[in-house]
Amino acid sequence: MAIERTLVLVKPDGLQRGLVGAIVSRLEGRGLKIVAMKLMRLDAALARRHYEAHVGKPFFRGLAQFITSSPLVAMVLEGKDAVEVVRRAMGDTDPVKAAPGTIRGDLGLDIGRNLVHGSDSPEAAEREVALFFQEGEVLDYRRDVDPWITES
Ligand code: RTP
Ligand code: MG
Repeated sequence: MAIERTLVLVKPDGLQRGLVGAIVSRLEGRGLKIVAMKLMRLDAALARRHYEAHVGKPFFRGLAQFITSSPLVAMVLEGKDAVEVVRRAMGDTDPVKAAPGTIRGDLGLDIGRNLVHGSDSPEAAEREVALFFQEGEVLDYRRDVDPWITES
């Protein structure tokens, strides 16, 4: 069983719309464990590093402007297959295509305002967690409920 960590952002639109609690609640309710969390405002340099795969694409300028436009909530979630679980819970990048029941499919309408980010692979997660959090900010702890969420 792969216990993974993944970087999740509630993007500026989620914060502005008062959806931080609703989004965190969905992921927390799955059994994922919050091991780091903070409110922060990205500067252009961090936005560029975070979205480095998209630098030069036509939508990059708007994406960088949006992600730096207001504070966001960054967190690290840990659990069984956390990367894939979060990606599936988020839904398709374009909320129009995202299935009902997903965060984007229930709460979003526009690809440029899609509320949430989740790392797209364990390798990306490792890179992104290190971009947003220092080592001491990611906490290792046990929850009594863990054996009721995963078998071993
Ligand atoms: P994210 O990185 O934000 O979690 O989103 P994602 O993996 O689902 O999508 P990704 O391909 O990494 O794209 C990053 C963000 O760029 C915007 N985008 N716009 N207009 C377009 O064709 C387009 N494609 C991507 C989206 O806001 C997407 O979340
Ligand atoms: Mg992405």
